[in-house]
Amino acid sequence: ARRPLIAGNWKMNAGGQEAMPLAAAVARAAKEFSKVEVVVAPPYTALAAAAHELFGENKSDVGLAAQNMHPETSGAFTGEISAGMLKESGASLVILGHSERRQLFGETDELVARKVGSAIAAELRPIVCVGETLEEREAGKTLEVVERQVRAFLDELAKQPGFGVIAYEPVWAIGTGRVASPEDAQKVHANIRGLLASASIELASVTRILYGGSVKADNAEGLLSQPDIDGALVGGASLDAAGFRKIIEAA
Ligand code: 13P
Repeated sequence: ARRPLIAGNWKMNAGGQEAMPLAAAVARAAKEFSKVEVVVAPPYTALAAAAHELFGENKSDVGLAAQNMHPETSGAFTGEISAGMLKESGASLVILGHSERRQLFGETDELVARKVGSAIAAELRPIVCVGETLEEREAGKTLEVVERQVRAFLDELAKQPGFGVIAYEPVWAIGTGRVASPEDAQKVHANIRGLLASASIELASVTRILYGGSVKADNAEGLLSQPDIDGALVGGASLDAAGFRKIIEAA
């Protein structure tokens, strides 16, 4: 069985002093539920401080993730951060292709795939996000869109089965309080697993596929009990330590 993974995406929040108590609280919660892999993704500016909380005296095995990166290793890319720099800050994972990156910052399938390749080459575990917009869902294009997004980086993930993670985050469910039903999400997750199987059976059986979009303490259990939902990528609810702990507990 795949180890459940609960990841908190702090987005552009808790980037300063708040990061330390929040990371420390997550470290404590993770120790209570050691069968669950727990990950936090603070803003870049809080990575080092969060690493200090997670891996210093507290010595937790919480994974530290960044929320984005540039695909090149170094160079004249003002304002950008490379995989190597993230690793030096203490990160071992990186969220890539989040819908906010795709929608607000113009990231294409092709760019996301390049980033996935660079992350894996640098031994940074990618959590790659996919998901349809409301318009696409209403047009009955959910599976088509998600398939296109997954196919773009499938070859990269297949290089190292189990290293990368996929997050299915329907755009209409992000930050809206409108969560996908466990059955609807399961359908998409099963479809993604089928795509992984087209690359290799091993890839399909070991890859964790997380659900994201308005996951809260009170809806987590129903989603996480689905056979192809291996965890959650949590936005808003990951900023509240007690609520995030309950989601870890539900896994
Ligand atoms: P919310 O949990 O706030 O809906 O955000 C989900 C998300 O985008 C996580 O990456």
